[in-house]
Amino acid sequence: MAKARTQFICQNCGTVHNRWAGKCDSCGAWNTIVEEDPMGGIGGGPAKTPRKGKPVTLTTLSGEIKEAPRIHTGISELDRATGGGFVRGSAVLVGGDPGIGKSTLLMQAAAALARRGHKIVYVSGEEAVAQVRLRAQRLKAADTEVLLAAETNVEDILATLSEGKRPDLVIIDSIQTLWSELAESAPGTVTQVRTGVQAMIRFAKQTGTAMVLVGHVTKDGQIAGPRVVEHMVDAVLYFEGDRGHHYRILRTVKNRFGPTDEIGVFEMSDSGLRDVPNPSELFLGERNEKSPGAAVFAGMEGTRPVLVEVQALVAPTSLGTPRRAIVGWDSARLSMILAVLEAHCGVRLGQHDVYLNIAGGYRISEPAADLAVASALVSSLAGLALPADCVYFGEVSLSGAVRPVAHTAQRLKEAEKLGFSAALLPTASADLPKGNGGRWNEIDSLPDLVVRIAG
Ligand code: TYD
Ligand code: MG
Repeated sequence: MAKARTQFICQNCGTVHNRWAGKCDSCGAWNTIVEEDPMGGIGGGPAKTPRKGKPVTLTTLSGEIKEAPRIHTGISELDRATGGGFVRGSAVLVGGDPGIGKSTLLMQAAAALARRGHKIVYVSGEEAVAQVRLRAQRLKAADTEVLLAAETNVEDILATLSEGKRPDLVIIDSIQTLWSELAESAPGTVTQVRTGVQAMIRFAKQTGTAMVLVGHVTKDGQIAGPRVVEHMVDAVLYFEGDRGHHYRILRTVKNRFGPTDEIGVFEMSDSGLRDVPNPSELFLGERNEKSPGAAVFAGMEGTRPVLVEVQALVAPTSLGTPRRAIVGWDSARLSMILAVLEAHCGVRLGQHDVYLNIAGGYRISEPAADLAVASALVSSLAGLALPADCVYFGEVSLSGAVRPVAHTAQRLKEAEKLGFSAALLPTASADLPKGNGGRWNEIDSLPDLVVRIAG
């Protein structure tokens, strides 16, 4: 029976379809399905004789296991996000929107490492060597021994890397420009990106080099996104931020050698990215304390507390279906809070537009923000400003109960450090610090909150 020669692969999520379609059923993206040769990258070659492996027991390994050998960059926020530096022999994917600052961050990291005597190779497939040098000059990194190569062919890159002393760290900017002679599809397709990344990972494992792979996130899906290689690498970091704001967040979403919920915070300046050791100060920087609809959320990002302002605007609607516009939070969660307010607290918002914004372009992923969001909504609706010295955190359940969340003590400590003297938090919170003259106000239900704010 003749075998079909081509497959249709979604460039966004990598799902294989039998035939072409306008929309990928798996990820919902439009116009992302491209015809590719499934055998691309596999190659023929002579049949391999099977080799026997020798399994070992876990106990024989005890005593031999050491901490993963790491390369510290000295850029504290980057080291924090990677869990203490890049690991030798591992591959890290750094994803993000074009223009967000990936190349800038990695050039700074390369320069910092080269200054510490490491051999760093920066392979740029997007920019010419002169362009990369120009950026390095702007970053005051042009005086370092970083090796630059402008190559896109996988075989050429491997040949370059194998020359001379083994590199400590290699940066491939970006995976979407990689193409291999072994794969027949066009550069930028899933097959090419996968083949290229596989070769780079193999090189990293064989030589003990730390491999950093840059991947662009694309909205239109014309080139394969970083998602298709996420499962192949050891760690995945996403570089996020709002173009309108100066700061950027490096978020760890996968890490085989460290924690996954860490963030590194940077500020983009004329001379590159700068560490932001205390993000709360940055996020609360432009606060207008007297306006209704603003509540400060005491959140956690990994091991670090982060204070950020939640802003809500509730206004009577002129539309048949009221608007719900949300920036920086989950829309399903907002719908849930609105439903709980309506069902259990008699707060009717069916005739109101609701706008919710997390200040400074920050994105909250914790359910602990429920209480701060509810407070901001009620405050805006009632037209009453919340106390300026109070922080809010707690999860709201569908029954309207306010549930305790983890890290109470740490959240409160950060709040105190930044001059907040009061907090509204769930009843029965564990590790609640004693004292503070009763300024930690406990609350166990959303109706209580409404009474407290609106009277
Ligand atoms: P870049 O690192 O090229 O983004 P990516 O590799 O993610 O596509 O960053 C480009 C943006 O950063 C560009 O808009 C200019 C800005 N930038 C600065 O503000 N300061 C700097 O020192 C540098 C090098 C770039
Ligand atoms: Mg770039």
